[in-house]
Amino acid sequence: MKNVSIAPDGREYPIPTAEESAAERDLLVKITEEQRKMGRKIVAVQGLGFVGCVMAAVVADAADKDGNPYYFVHGHQRASKRSFWKVPVINTGVPPVASSDPEVPEIFHRTVVEKKTFRATSEEFVYTLADVVVVDIQLDATKPAFGEAEKGYCDLTHFREGMRTLGQLIQPHCMVLVETTVPPGTCEKVVKPILEEEFTKRGIDIKTNPPLIAHSYERVMPGSKYVSSIRDFWRVFSGVNPQSIKLCREFLTNCLNVDEFPLTQLDSTNASEMAKTMENSYRATNIALTLEWARFAEQIGVDIFKVRDAIRKRKGTHDNMLRPSLGVGGYCLTKDPVLANWSMQSLFGLEGGLDVAINSVNINDTMPLHTVEIIKKELGNLNNIKIALLGVSYLENVGDTRHSPSETLVTFLRKEMATVKCCDPYVESWPELEDVKVESDIHQVLPGADVVVFAVGHDEYKVLKPKEVLDICGTKPLIVDCSNFLTDEKIAEYKALGCKVRGVGKGHIV
Ligand SMILES: NC(=O)c1ccc[n+]([C@@H]2O[C@H](COP(=O)([O-])OP(=O)(O)OC[C@H]3O[C@@H](n4cnc5c(N)ncnc54)[C@H](O)[C@@H]3O)[C@@H](O)[C@H]2O)c1
Repeated sequence: MKNVSIAPDGREYPIPTAEESAAERDLLVKITEEQRKMGRKIVAVQGLGFVGCVMAAVVADAADKDGNPYYFVHGHQRASKRSFWKVPVINTGVPPVASSDPEVPEIFHRTVVEKKTFRATSEEFVYTLADVVVVDIQLDATKPAFGEAEKGYCDLTHFREGMRTLGQLIQPHCMVLVETTVPPGTCEKVVKPILEEEFTKRGIDIKTNPPLIAHSYERVMPGSKYVSSIRDFWRVFSGVNPQSIKLCREFLTNCLNVDEFPLTQLDSTNASEMAKTMENSYRATNIALTLEWARFAEQIGVDIFKVRDAIRKRKGTHDNMLRPSLGVGGYCLTKDPVLANWSMQSLFGLEGGLDVAINSVNINDTMPLHTVEIIKKELGNLNNIKIALLGVSYLENVGDTRHSPSETLVTFLRKEMATVKCCDPYVESWPELEDVKVESDIHQVLPGADVVVFAVGHDEYKVLKPKEVLDICGTKPLIVDCSNFLTDEKIAEYKALGCKVRGVGKGHIV
């Protein structure tokens, strides 16, 4: 097997050889020395995923009032077959993530090619050179049984390894800023002991050089304001000691738009970690509430979305009510309540659990089954029924398929022996369902469809005209609207053209 990493577009990138790695390490030292001479501090970002790669670009773009960059950023991504491709791609000034935000390609080009303040590498050695390390690696929750999040747990093995690498390599003055969403207690009970142990092994006196560890969580939204959601947004932070807090405040103040979005300092990293997981549990719970009301609305002739609009008029208390949909996906809402629930017992030895949040995860994870029910109610047996699914990412206008509710939908529709064709303009491949071909063009999925499911509200799908859809289908399919993507006018048009229309929470359609 070739020792290459394959990018989503199919291009192959050879994994560096031992000689290439050695040459890269020399180059890292040279670049770092040059950058220090220019008065810049050195930042290493651990993990160039959805969060890390754009955060790295934001840090590399930060400059003082005269336009002088504060930092040079080494983005670090391991030389694995799965992820190495990100390094050469970034180093040409191209983002490794698809996004509808035009600022994403701009900031990569500006920092990598024009300012030359951002470069990616696969050498861990880079941590020896850093003044600040920003940790943006993943930390998953495992849910061993579908719809039973209470059995979920967090395997810290990989995260611990990442922290151990830092403990073995960083200089004692280096501040480690953990941005990864972690179970409350992680900085104090996991990161700190590992760094202390590794420092001690290296002969560093941890009384005079205690590890500098801070926590500040990202609230990034990888949609049309991807970059802005990192730079121009409120941040919460804390640290394990006063020096960590001071350094973290200084770093975030330099990198982010804190004039308009002031920082919030909490008393401890436990508090900051809890804030992140509670914030996402709150959203998960808010969405979960809407599903049972959507079912109720469907049964009594009510449009839940108009009800929601009416309630949201109560500014200050009710204007953030979320909406029912196909389901809840993405990396965060599906796992963060599980991380917090797990930490209660496993890191703090407490009894009890976060039952409301966990129940919400269960409701949200199983939400796509409601759309299956809607289709079955109209068509009965789904054997050989042709279903066109519009949207497989977890959110409108993004290409991220992680924990996408469309995955659950496709899996359960296939169990019913339906034939499902999938389309998504933002998704090139679907790693979670590798045998499903994702088309970018609706002409590949609509012809002959018995059912068209509007699963994700990508702009491209919202503007589709009913006549155009039906002309391509050549049939009069059942139209299923998973989250109010069709206006009443469009619904009337579909009906006038001979289609039945159904939707989650849309009981008003007769
Ligand atoms: N995606 C979001 O919208 C979002 C929002 C807020 C917070 N977060 C949190 O941010 C963290 C990162 O999320 P993400 O979406 O960027 O994940 P991701 O899986 O896209 O990225 C993680 C990256 O880290 C790399 N990595 C893992 N271990 C490494 C190591 N030891 N050294 C170097 N690289 C390593 C992986 O290869 C991957 O590229 C998670 O804790 C997540 O919950 C994500």
